[in-house]
Amino acid sequence: MQEEINLGITRDEALQLMKEYLKPGNLQKHSLATEAIMRRLAQKMGEDEDLWGIAGLLHDLDYEDTKDDMPRHTLRTEEILKGKGICNEVIEAIKGHNADNLGYERERTIDHALTCAECITGMIVATTLVYPDKKISSVKPKSIIKRMKQKEFARSVNRDFIRECEKIGITLEEFAELSLKAMQEIGNELGL
Ligand SMILES: [Fe+2]
Repeated sequence: MQEEINLGITRDEALQLMKEYLKPGNLQKHSLATEAIMRRLAQKMGEDEDLWGIAGLLHDLDYEDTKDDMPRHTLRTEEILKGKGICNEVIEAIKGHNADNLGYERERTIDHALTCAECITGMIVATTLVYPDKKISSVKPKSIIKRMKQKEFARSVNRDFIRECEKIGITLEEFAELSLKAMQEIGNELGL
């Protein structure tokens, strides 16, 4: 059996914290979407669902404060979470998704997972919005892959980061399908 990790925070507390630091709107939705994908990925990989989910929910906690200073992104979150006694695994995973700006390479499974999960949310939202009914329930996984291959579509979404799913043994097709399902489940909360 997998060893239980004491995260130092419950899901409800993490949700409150996220809402305290991020204004209602796209960043809150992005955080919820990332959490949903991370939970599904954890299930698939036999990993700790709460650990992966909470890392997803809190990964951009400092974004409003650090968006113009990416080398500080996630380090501010580290300070906040350390001050609340939240476990290192959550903090390290969050930093891992900004490793490029922090000057190291991602190695751990959860780091790659968080990176591809948070990135694909942007592609899924953009794909949904070009569907005639703009409903996430109408979106097909194939459309996400198709749009990903169009360089000019949602240009700011980093395709290489999405492809990090392959580093944890998940094909792009599987990953798109899993992520879409995760976001469809919370479509109402995402306003999609
Ligand atoms: Fe993010």
